Amino acid sequence: MNAAIARARAQAALTDLRPQPDDIAADAIAGLSRTPKSLPSKYFYDAEGSRLFEAITRQPEYYLTRVELALMEAQMPSIAQAIGGGVHVVEFGSGSGRKTELLLEGLDAPVAYTPIEISRTALMDSVTRLGQQFADVEMLPVCADFTRPVPLPAAARRAQRTLVFFPGSTLGNFNNAEAVQLLTSMRDTMAADGCALIGIDLDKDPATIEAAYNDLAGVTAAFTLNLLARLNREIGSDFDLDGFRHHAVYARERMRIETALVSERAQAVHIGDRRFEFAEGEAMRVEVSQKYTDASFAALAAQAGLRVSHGWNDTSDCFGLRLLQPA
Ligand code: TRP
Repeated sequence: MNAAIARARAQAALTDLRPQPDDIAADAIAGLSRTPKSLPSKYFYDAEGSRLFEAITRQPEYYLTRVELALMEAQMPSIAQAIGGGVHVVEFGSGSGRKTELLLEGLDAPVAYTPIEISRTALMDSVTRLGQQFADVEMLPVCADFTRPVPLPAAARRAQRTLVFFPGSTLGNFNNAEAVQLLTSMRDTMAADGCALIGIDLDKDPATIEAAYNDLAGVTAAFTLNLLARLNREIGSDFDLDGFRHHAVYARERMRIETALVSERAQAVHIGDRRFEFAEGEAMRVEVSQKYTDASFAALAAQAGLRVSHGWNDTSDCFGLRLLQPA
């Protein structure tokens, strides 16, 4: 299909729930007022942050994206069989181009595709591109915050069931309570006969995990520090980018990577008339990346009234995909 037609169709099909714009300054001030200090990770992905994250996925140490793609390539026939034909695919977020392509290609005649995404431009770009490639799949984009319940637009052709897709172990970037809430909202979206395909990074040798978040080229460090550059630009804070260093360690007992920016010296940071003191060596949490065992993931899913019906791992049990259904 021609790009102009694809764009016009996508525009016509857009459901715009007008998500509340973020209050970055208020969120930053709230995080810096806590002990220990933290900054919300959702602000990583400005234009530069998105570019840097793409670069992270190409680093030799960052196995997650590569292994998940290979897993989908290898197991798509089996995944498609477990899911069944004629589904309405709903993706929470819309940043995962190649994975979505593999899914839509590999499923048996999916009827519709709904990405739910807060950024209108990212949303429309993704459905314009996919609409050209998958002319038989109805594109039904929804501009909304996927952490809140979202009513699903009905497909013109009746779907057999709803499939929620959430790859990339992005679920691991939410704390336990938020992850349960997100899974609960997926359960509402999929309804009684639906399912969800979730990518999860598995617990493994800590050195392998830590290397993925401390690549030698320093791309991940640049990515986390970009958060401070963004805040300086957008809310007028005065973080000294040379005064903080990236620090990511695997907390084995919690099975998660904890990423922080550590203050290199005693210093103060200002936002408007607010002043925040940092001690030398003080860590400000910017992200968690939860890793899972079969048991820990099943327990998390159960908290949201879901059960694991199928699972696929790569050959070294490094990364997994799980199919969830209402329990
Ligand atoms: N979802 C990715 C992950 O948890 C995001 C990510 C990759 C990330 N590298 C990071 C987040 C470094 C913060 C810091 O792996």
